[in-house]
Amino acid sequence: MQEDVLNIKNQALAQIMSADSAAELEQIRIDYFGRNGRFTNIIKNIKRVSADERKRIGLIINEAKKSIEELLENQKRNLRESVREWFDPTVPGQKPEIGHLHPITKTINEISRIFGRIGFERARYPEVEWDHFAFEALNMPKNHPARDEWETFFIDVPENSKYGKTVLTPHTSNGQVREMLRVGTPPIRMINIAKCYRRQSDISHAPMFHQFEGLVIDEDISIVNLKGTLDYFAKSFYGEGRTTRLRPYHFQFTEPSFEIDISCGVCKGRGCKVCKSGWLELGGAGMVHPNVLKAGKIDPVKYSGFAFGWGVERVLMMKEEVGIPDVRMIYGTDLRYLSQF
Ligand code: DAH
Repeated sequence: MQEDVLNIKNQALAQIMSADSAAELEQIRIDYFGRNGRFTNIIKNIKRVSADERKRIGLIINEAKKSIEELLENQKRNLRESVREWFDPTVPGQKPEIGHLHPITKTINEISRIFGRIGFERARYPEVEWDHFAFEALNMPKNHPARDEWETFFIDVPENSKYGKTVLTPHTSNGQVREMLRVGTPPIRMINIAKCYRRQSDISHAPMFHQFEGLVIDEDISIVNLKGTLDYFAKSFYGEGRTTRLRPYHFQFTEPSFEIDISCGVCKGRGCKVCKSGWLELGGAGMVHPNVLKAGKIDPVKYSGFAFGWGVERVLMMKEEVGIPDVRMIYGTDLRYLSQF
C-alpha cells in the first residue's frame, strides 16, 4: 500500500507540473481528491490495513496529500502571475486627463497679445482700491449720482483722509489715474486687465468679473486713433469681417463718450434674431476728460487721450461660436462644461 501511495503522489506531482491552465489544475484536483478520486480511494482502503500498520501508512498518506495540495496551490499562483505579467503592446494606451487654462485666462492672454502687438503695456492695478481712484479722480465727486451705476461693495475700514473710503474696484478705470501718476510724462499706452466687483448676479452678470481698460495719452490723440484701435481689436479678436461703430453716450470720465458696438457675426450687420439691429454692444469708450488728466498731473492743453473699458466675460460670450448661456457657468466647477473650451 505504501508503494501505491508514493506512486499516486509522483503521478499527481508530474501532472500538476505540466498543467498550464487553471481548468486543468482543477481537473487534476478532482481526479485525485474528488469523491471517487484516486487518493480518496486510497484513504477509504486504509481500513484494510492492520491496526499497527495503519498509523505508519496514515502518516505517509498525510504527507503525500500535503505535498500534492501545496504544489497545486503553487502552480495556481504561478499561472495567475504569469497572466498578470503578460503585456500586450498593441493595446491602445489610457490617456491621462490633461487640464487646460481657464477660458477667461485664455481670453485675457489673447487680449494682452492683441494689444501688445500695437505697443500697449500690460498693467494690473489694485482690486481693493480707494474711492479716490475708482471715482473721485474720474470726475465723479462724492454724492455724484453717476456713481450709482457701479453698484459698489465698500470695505468696512476707517476712511483715509486723502483717498477716502475703501472699495472693491467696480471697474478697471481705477488704473487710469494710477498709470498717469506712475508714468509721469506721456506717451502712455496701457492695457489694464483685472478683476472687478459689483453687487449684481444674473445670467449676464457675476459679482466678480474681469475688465480690460485701454488708455492712450499723447500729443494729438483724436477719436480717429480710438476708432482705429477698436477696429483693429474687433478684427483681431473676432475675425476680419467685423467692424465697430461709436454711439454717443455719457460717462463722467470721458468727453465725448461712446458706447462701442460690433457688427453681428451671425448676420454680418443685416439684422437677425441674435442682434436685432445688426450690431452688438461691446462696452464704453471715449476721449479722456480734462479733469481726469489733471487728476493724473497731465496738462490737458498739451496732451489728449482716449480710453475704453470692456468686460472680458462679455467679449468672450460674444464670440458666437462659444456657447455661454449664463456667465456664472464660467465660474462653476462643472468640468464637463469647462473642458470644452
Ligand atoms: N468703466 C466703465 C464701466 O465699467 C467703462 C468705460 C467707459 C471705461 C468709458 C472707459 C471709458 O475707459 O472711457 O462701465
